Amino acid sequence: MTLRDLLGIGLPVIQAPMAGVQGSALAIAVSNAGGLGSLPCAMLGLDAVREELAKIRAATRAPYNVNFFCHAPPAPSAEREAAWRSALAPYYSEYGIDPAAIPPGPGRAPFTAQAAALLAEFKPPVVSFHFGLPSAELLAGVKSWGAKVLSSATTVEEARWLEARGVDAVIAQGVEAGGHRGMFLTEDLSTQAGTFALLPQVVRAVRLPVIAAGGIADAKGVAAALALGAAGVQVGTAYLLCPEATTSAVHRAALKSDAARHTALTNVFTGRPARGVVNRIMRELGPVSGAAPAFPLAGSAVAPLRAKAEGRGSGDFSPLWCGQNPSGCREIPAADLTRSLAA
Ligand SMILES: Cc1cc2nc3c(=O)[nH]c(=O)nc-3n(C[C@H](O)[C@H](O)[C@H](O)COP(=O)(O)O)c2cc1C
Repeated sequence: MTLRDLLGIGLPVIQAPMAGVQGSALAIAVSNAGGLGSLPCAMLGLDAVREELAKIRAATRAPYNVNFFCHAPPAPSAEREAAWRSALAPYYSEYGIDPAAIPPGPGRAPFTAQAAALLAEFKPPVVSFHFGLPSAELLAGVKSWGAKVLSSATTVEEARWLEARGVDAVIAQGVEAGGHRGMFLTEDLSTQAGTFALLPQVVRAVRLPVIAAGGIADAKGVAAALALGAAGVQVGTAYLLCPEATTSAVHRAALKSDAARHTALTNVFTGRPARGVVNRIMRELGPVSGAAPAFPLAGSAVAPLRAKAEGRGSGDFSPLWCGQNPSGCREIPAADLTRSLAA
């Protein structure tokens, strides 16, 4: 089945939901251009989700996607928090930050019954998840208005698990991808394969349409993914410089620099592995640190360092999410980028 049949879109291009760097404007531009625009909700409160969905509904009649995380929030551990703060202590003194005064930072919330009730008011045509799926009950609620459900798989096992639970398509997320690994059945990074190794194996393992994600940045990459059996692609990094994205100044500068060619998987920003441009905190404490608290708790202790450093124009403590192929990042309208990917 093609994405046109499944999702009602004209172009085989899904704009990846990217929490923290975009809102409705990017999604609207991509959906109106014939791709599938996505609204990431992991870092939005419910009021903000409502506002953004209202904006999308007012600005397009085309299909769009709403995206949520599905992690189980961990019990905070005072011991791990203390260990993490002591690893960060030299930076606090360098920046004159009082560690006792650090508030709990912006977290990342999983899909809840409240979010499901809000979605039911808008009935979005597509809902996608990262880190597995919500409970069977919440999933059934989303499907009740006919929403098509997508979720990321980083291994063949995860793809089969998602198919068995009734998703409509699987996003095969290769290890090149920017942002968080969607992995949920394993924490072992050695299980993570590249897009063109993972994709054909997932295509063979499931009967569902498979969407390729990770490292796809231009029309030739899209064509290659389709040649390997993908029904479409999900592209994130290439959209980060579009004017409709809310990518910060330090993040944009990093993406435009040679530094963007060196990315790594790191847990220092949230507690879960995610790919970003290698910067000072990743070099000095990671890229993977045993001291980082569980996802998403690692973030609050880093947040004041990020704010101070960004105030000085430095991305030393910022998550500079970026995939291994930043060559498609262009400062052009998202509609133009969407059409050029599909050309
Ligand atoms: C800045 C950034 C933020 C991301 N945030 C999310 C998110 O909120 N939800 C999600 O499902 N995927 C997220 N991802 C992962 C994308 O869905 C996708 O797997 C990835 O962007 C594809 O690889 P590429 O970046 O090489 O195009 C994010 C990726 C980036 C680059």
